[in-house]
Amino acid sequence: MAATGHAEGSRHGTPRRTSAARAEAPAASSAAEPGRRRPSRAAPEVTPELEQLLLESGRMSPAWRGTFRAVPRAAFLPDIIWPFTGDGETSAPVDRRATPETWLRWAEENLPITVQHDDGASTGPGVYTSSSSTPSIVASMLRDLDARPGMSVLEVGTGTGWNAALLCERLGAQAVTTVEIDPALADRARGRLSEAGYRPAVVVGDGLDGHGPGALYDRIIATAGVRTVPMAWLAQCRPGGVIVAPWGTHYSPQDAIVRLVVAADGSCAAGRFTGPAEFMKVRSQRLAWPVHEEYVLDRPGTVSHSEADLGDVFDGGYGGTGMLLGLFVDDCTHTVHDGTAWLYGLGDRSWAAATAEGAGVRVHQSGPRRLWDEVEAAYRWWRDQGRPDVERFGLTVTAAGREVWLDGPGAVVNVR
Ligand SMILES: C[S@@+](CC[C@H](N)C(=O)[O-])C[C@H]1O[C@@H](n2cnc3c(N)ncnc32)[C@H](O)[C@@H]1O
Repeated sequence: MAATGHAEGSRHGTPRRTSAARAEAPAASSAAEPGRRRPSRAAPEVTPELEQLLLESGRMSPAWRGTFRAVPRAAFLPDIIWPFTGDGETSAPVDRRATPETWLRWAEENLPITVQHDDGASTGPGVYTSSSSTPSIVASMLRDLDARPGMSVLEVGTGTGWNAALLCERLGAQAVTTVEIDPALADRARGRLSEAGYRPAVVVGDGLDGHGPGALYDRIIATAGVRTVPMAWLAQCRPGGVIVAPWGTHYSPQDAIVRLVVAADGSCAAGRFTGPAEFMKVRSQRLAWPVHEEYVLDRPGTVSHSEADLGDVFDGGYGGTGMLLGLFVDDCTHTVHDGTAWLYGLGDRSWAAATAEGAGVRVHQSGPRRLWDEVEAAYRWWRDQGRPDVERFGLTVTAAGREVWLDGPGAVVNVR
């Protein structure tokens, strides 16, 4: 992606990660060409087409149908938006004041819409730092959360306030606390929520600390990606309560939505991943992208050949392979640039480069770790297991660390 950059990627040096840190992008986008949509309406809502898609795919729980109808996303978007078109290269601004109908068509698309770059330090293009997530992901995360009237909810990542408004509509504003790290975004969201008639607690702060004064919550939902689930969330969630969050490792920007149930004694939380996604990360858990030149110096290394299929190992899409291999290759990140996959060790200066050659791959590895060997071993294990989807994996979080398991907590495949 492009000029607008990756939330984790350096904008200096080569290569850098080029896949899109797109909030919130679903595994397979169903977005249609916006120009072909019908004319705008005065009172926008989730369009009938989108509602049907969400219900039929199971992404939207029928219990939330009326809520989505009542709370239009457009009411929470600023005048200037950057719709994510998914073409990997462009994300042009659209100004409601100049082209109101185009603006509204984009607002109704099943796409993530960027609303802030560079933590507010620029007006873009830059690194995406806040967005309104893809409606189908919003719906499926609310389905996973299973918040019902009478329950209290903490949201981490207020952003535009749309998700908070949906929660207010369904549960009542008194049941909703939402934390946003960016004061300007929190202010804007508070204003829009108020205009729409909702007055939840909108708190400026680091959502990784939760919000103690409102605890215990029945449900906690994070709408920014985490690499570590903070114990504060477990402490502030009722036993038996549910935490839903995008989770992944630094190996890839890909996340998967995890649905954790807090144990009776609060000491751990465990649950399965419900599907792949890709979110911008919470501020303190963003990856500082490795400076290529600091790795690839004149260091001796080894050159070898592998029979692996480079395209299969690095799918580069939203299929979840990056997220899955990252479960097994610790302290490592990667990018694919000009047909070469680059791997960088995050704890040392190990690196590897793999380029398709004939029926296999030519591999250069350098430093204390053999990163390609680690990735290839993880890939072969996953392939030999029958390529299990991310939904077959799960996560257990305790104060001591985390475990990843396959098909059930008894079958731990990685401990960290
Ligand atoms: C994808 S947006 C959230 C979308 C939002 N739920 C909505 O409905 O528009 C992620 C948000 O998380 C915020 N964020 C990042 N790190 C955070 C943190 N540590 N605590 C709270 N918010 C954070 C970002 O500023 C950004 O606004």
